[in-house]
Amino acid sequence: MLQVEELSKVYVSGKIKVQALKGVSFAVTKGEFVAIMGPSGSGKSTLLHLLGCFDHPTSGRYKLNGINVAGLNDDQLAEIRNKYIGFVFQQFNLLSRATILQNVEIPLIYAGINKKRRLEIAREMLEKVGLEHRLDHLPTEISGGQRQRVAIARALAINPSLILADEPTGNLDSQTSAEIMDLFHELNNQGQTIILVTHEEDIARHAKRRIYLVDGEIRYDEVTPS
Ligand SMILES: Nc1ncnc2c1ncn2[C@@H]1O[C@H](COP(=O)(O)OP(=O)(O)O)[C@@H](O)[C@H]1O
Ligand SMILES: [Mg+2]
Repeated sequence: MLQVEELSKVYVSGKIKVQALKGVSFAVTKGEFVAIMGPSGSGKSTLLHLLGCFDHPTSGRYKLNGINVAGLNDDQLAEIRNKYIGFVFQQFNLLSRATILQNVEIPLIYAGINKKRRLEIAREMLEKVGLEHRLDHLPTEISGGQRQRVAIARALAINPSLILADEPTGNLDSQTSAEIMDLFHELNNQGQTIILVTHEEDIARHAKRRIYLVDGEIRYDEVTPS
């Protein structure tokens, strides 16, 4: 479903250059659940941003669903992102003045889906994450774990090929983190492809495969040891 080859990213700010990724290659097939691990600064978020079509690689190739993504311009990247990718962030990134239902509707507006169908899908996704009784609440009126559930429902709304999550439990206590990981687990069991960034062993344990980065390079790529 996705292939990256020799993917590199150099950040340049003034005279300072940081090579965040140094020629990373791997492939992910449909239905996989992959944890990207590694110490702070090893390039995990950079890699996830490239996979999520938020940014251009400095060099290398990226193919998603047969599309050569590395060669696209910003508008085309946004189109691919809106069509194929659901993103879950550590900070949830919900609109604070919009209700939970409206938050889940947003990607469907970009996808050009009519209001009636949008509401149907948003309700269905919120039901899937166990929040059907909170539709009219604002994000400030629910817990952190519930906010992350809303973010997951929003990511699922477009029926994405791929869910990408960057430290999705980084702001949650261990009990709530375990519940969120159970939800990812369940989604993966239903066939959802997931790539999740974490530096925590407890979280990575839920993924079937782990890709470990050190200094912008893959140190190992293996099936999760049991
Ligand atoms: N926008 C940016 N501009 C400059 N340097 C960056 C930027 N984003 C990340 N970096 C640098 O790239 C390296 C990898 O960062 P990152 O991908 O965020 O690592 P991780 O998510 O593993 O902590 C770090 O040295 C970081 O300081
Ligand atoms: Mg990071």
